[in-house]
Amino acid sequence: SHALILVGGFGTRLRPLTLSWPKPLVEFCNKAMILHQIEALVQAGVKDIVLAVNYRPEVMVSVLKKTEEEFGINITFSVETEPLGTAGPLALARDILGKDDSPFFVLNSDVTCTYPFEAFRDFHLAHKCEGSIMVTKVAEPSAYGVVVTKPGTTVIDRFVEKPVEFVGNRINAGIYMFNPSILDRIELRPTSIEKEIFPAIAADQQLHSFDLAGFWMDVGQPKDFLTGEHLPLPVASHFATLSPPHRPTKNKWVYGGNVLVDPTAEIDPTAVLGPNVVIGPGAKIGPGARLQRCVVLSNAVIRDHSWIANSIIGWNSNVGRWTRVENITVLGDDVTIKDELYVNGASVLPHKSISTSITEPRIVM
Ligand code: GDD
Ligand code: MG
Repeated sequence: SHALILVGGFGTRLRPLTLSWPKPLVEFCNKAMILHQIEALVQAGVKDIVLAVNYRPEVMVSVLKKTEEEFGINITFSVETEPLGTAGPLALARDILGKDDSPFFVLNSDVTCTYPFEAFRDFHLAHKCEGSIMVTKVAEPSAYGVVVTKPGTTVIDRFVEKPVEFVGNRINAGIYMFNPSILDRIELRPTSIEKEIFPAIAADQQLHSFDLAGFWMDVGQPKDFLTGEHLPLPVASHFATLSPPHRPTKNKWVYGGNVLVDPTAEIDPTAVLGPNVVIGPGAKIGPGARLQRCVVLSNAVIRDHSWIANSIIGWNSNVGRWTRVENITVLGDDVTIKDELYVNGASVLPHKSISTSITEPRIVM
């Protein structure tokens, strides 16, 4: 069977990371974001994957060549000349998605969860209708698509994208399964699946909702990326299947649990990590450093006695001694922060060197 992943544009909300590296390749728990989805699809038996993009994907093409070979799958880049929204890309990939009668998966690229694709497909095949939407609950539904079902059933009665008034708290998790017949509803033009296609299928009573168990997060912006990155950490079994994590629970530097460290990272025994810390390949954490709720990307260096909280330290960056970095600070690639500084909520562009404190949140260009 096949799948289409809506990869979309330049990932501007994840800057400065996406100034250096395509968003789908930004590491999420030490593995390119898109690989988590691809590997979960492969486990569910998917062989053909379409990546719907609206930019020139050279870097991704070369990285994903290896993935194709490793898993024996086909990855096709479907490149839009103008952004086609969330439905138009299905029409553009019609030849692949509609090549047989089997249903296909569609994924938003910026969501993380346990990806229960097999149970989802069983559900879809059992109800025999045109489409299925994975649904999760959130406290603040106004930033999402809200799903309302007919009482006591899984049949979706209404789909309301980004509701202004409260209609419910069960929201679209951004993962779908459709029969190829949906392609007859979609024209090759910019179209929102949420605003145009779902209401039409729901009106025909052909759309069902599948309740997602476990964690879920849209990780399209830094704050949610950080929160989302830490959600899978306790789900060791899920993670073990994706990339065997090095979880050195015996070392004294792990504090409060949920710490994922690449085996090639070097952590000084007097550093204290956790809870909710991810350390990438080749990173170095110095003596007495204290890290919590943060992500340190590959080859970054955190020097002696620094304090890092609620922040993303970009690849190859260097944080000096006795420095305090916090409040959703995001350092791009190869940023240097000098010794004894305070960095509060800064977004620092690649290759910058910071030598005075940043006391209020701002972008450093
Ligand atoms: N190829 C392509 N072309 N992809 C696109 C385009 C486009 O023109 N526009 C958006 N996408 C991709 C994005 O990259 C993302 O993976 C997905 O489509 C959804 O777009 P977002 O911009 O992230 O939408 P959202 O987060 O505001 O809302 C969507 O996701 C929510 C769950 O996170 C909707 O599907 C909501 O209903 C849903 O609740
Ligand atoms: Mg999103």
